[in-house]
Amino acid sequence: MEIIAGTAQLREFVANARRSGKRVAFVPTMGNLHEGHLTLARDACKHGGLVVASIFVNRLQFAPDEDFDRYPRTFEADCRGLASCGVDVLFAPDEQTLYPQPQTYRIQPPALADDLEGSFRPGFFHGVCTVVAKLFNMVQPDVALFGKKDYQQLMIVSDMVRQLAMPVEIIRGETVRAADGLALSSRNGYLSPKDRERAPALYAELSQLAAALKAGRRDYAALESSICHNLLEKQWQVDYVAVRKQSDLQSPSQTDGALVILAAARLGTTRLIDNLEVWL
Ligand code: PAF
Repeated sequence: MEIIAGTAQLREFVANARRSGKRVAFVPTMGNLHEGHLTLARDACKHGGLVVASIFVNRLQFAPDEDFDRYPRTFEADCRGLASCGVDVLFAPDEQTLYPQPQTYRIQPPALADDLEGSFRPGFFHGVCTVVAKLFNMVQPDVALFGKKDYQQLMIVSDMVRQLAMPVEIIRGETVRAADGLALSSRNGYLSPKDRERAPALYAELSQLAAALKAGRRDYAALESSICHNLLEKQWQVDYVAVRKQSDLQSPSQTDGALVILAAARLGTTRLIDNLEVWL
């Protein structure tokens, strides 16, 4: 695996691969890779003759009071993981390469970016869209892979690509879970051993809500509050539990059949998000 820090070198590498007829598949990450990322990297090998992954902890998507400084950085282990998955190029730019000047031109995503995650993390999706657009310009991939674990991010990035006619196909990767159901996330590492034991409750509650929907209940607001209540009783602090349509993340009608339940809640100081798709 080639580790490249500069844009010119990256472009040359990608251009050579293209000249030899290869499609370019891209997996953007912020590092501290787990099996969810590595599954995306392995899938990428099925979609491109040249597989590029990136590691860049994007300051623009962190609010000043968030965990940018303590976000786990595990570069050596990440390199070993990506190489073992068949990744050809790791693009690992420093801040100066990504943002040589203050990034005053930014992507302004639509209202969906201020809902759910966006209402608790103002500016988060502006930062995500801006860095993803910029990474796409640098890597120029044919396909890019994003995990469903960050469901709203996947939807917002897909819409951005469509509306701005970016020539990139977005591929969705399934959420990878630990044996007890907890969705893998770089932030799981912040959990104390005791909180790690309690963390699968989030997925368990989403599964319970999914079962109620499948059993025919359509009183979405009541179902959402009962899950919030259950989590609060288990000492979680809940940001949101929301039943939405898979197609646009808006509130569903009584007859919509492709739904997704999204949640964000905190155990101690660790904020976890998860979601579960349901077909009725
Ligand atoms: O999902 C992530 O890790 C980040 O939001 C992404 C897409 C790499 C942009 O920084």
